[in-house]
Formats: sequence, C-alpha cells, structure tokens
Amino acid sequence: MNATGAAAVKEPPRRDFLKMVSAGMAAVGTGAVAWTFIDSMNPDKATLAAGAPIDIDLKPIAEGQQIVVLWRGKPMLIVKRTKAAVASLQDPKIVKLLSDPNSKVLQQPPYAENWHRSAKPDLLVLVGVCTHLGCLPGYFPKPSATTPVPDWPSGYFCPCHGSKYDLAGRVWKGVPAPYNLPVPPYRYVSDTMIRIGENPAGQTFSMSSIVQM
Ligand code: FES
Repeated sequence: MNATGAAAVKEPPRRDFLKMVSAGMAAVGTGAVAWTFIDSMNPDKATLAAGAPIDIDLKPIAEGQQIVVLWRGKPMLIVKRTKAAVASLQDPKIVKLLSDPNSKVLQQPPYAENWHRSAKPDLLVLVGVCTHLGCLPGYFPKPSATTPVPDWPSGYFCPCHGSKYDLAGRVWKGVPAPYNLPVPPYRYVSDTMIRIGENPAGQTFSMSSIVQM
C-alpha cells in the first residue's frame, strides 16, 4: 500500500502522450467533441521546457466547450461546464456508477477534493491522460442513446480499452482505468484567468504527488 492507501499495482509501461495524439484522435472518432488545441495561449518553447506555469484566458471559452493546452508535454483539459453538467455531478444515477466519487485517492490537489473536483464548480481543469495506459479520452459532454456507447450519460470515454469517466474526470467502476483523471495544480489569477502550475496561497500541492499520471 502506498501513502494514500491505494494498492500498488504493477502497470504496463505508460504511453507517451505526444506520440499518441494522432492515433487517439482517429480512434475517438466523429462522435466526440473535437479537441481545440490553443497554441496561441502556450508560452514559448524555452518556457515550456522549463516547466514554468502557464496562464489561460477563460474569456474565449464558450459554455460547454473544452480547450486543450499542452503543459509539460501533457494535455491540460479546460472545460467551462454548463449548468446541466454541474448538476450531473451530484445526480445519484451518475454517482452510483463511479469508483471514487469523493476523490479519496490523491489524484487532485486538496482544493479539488470535492464533488466537482475543481476550485470553482463551473470550471474543470484536468490532465487528459487515461489512468489505464495513457490514451487520450474523448469528450462526450451530452447524453446520447448511441454515442460513444449505448445509453451514454455524458463524460469522457477512452477509445483504447473502453474506460469511462464523468464530467469531473471521475472514473467508473468496472473499467480498466483504476483512478480518476488527475487534476494539476492551478489557481485563479483573476476571475477570467487561471495559472496552471501554481497553487493558491498557502497550498503546496505537487504534480509528483499524484498517484497515477
Ligand atoms: S488507456 Fe484508456 S482504457 Fe486503456
């Protein structure tokens, strides 16, 4: 057992996200909401190489939209959740599907260990790497009778081996992925700007303390 109480599991090698983008995009298919990579928000290569924090302007993000920004070689998913999406997080029909609904495994900072897994309920910030073998989960924010699987309630679907997560990145029971999607350290610089890679004052959460990246 590790410090969080999670059992140590011998895992196959994790995958390199950057090598998997193309394959993952193809596998997710047309049903997923397209990933919107925001190159203009990314800092220069030297800044990225140093792993420095990056600022994300929230103003251009529409309600329900997800944008993706690369940070430290990993995709950061930023979603402005709709009111329906926020409400779904406490829907008993969704919660009963989840393996760790209260985020007890250390996959997020203390300020995201809550029912919405975020600093504020309407904004979701995740590391978009499936906790099974590191594929790219597709964003399917609306319920569907058919897509990506029958009776889909909303959330993320990983096309590689079928892992499912809700709209807070909480993993379902009975899927290959063992943990919720990670949440990186971040803080609000203003009401419309977040900085990924920095904690709020008084917090010391580090990416290296996440159980499964
Ligand atoms: S990598 Fe996501 S289900 Fe296997």
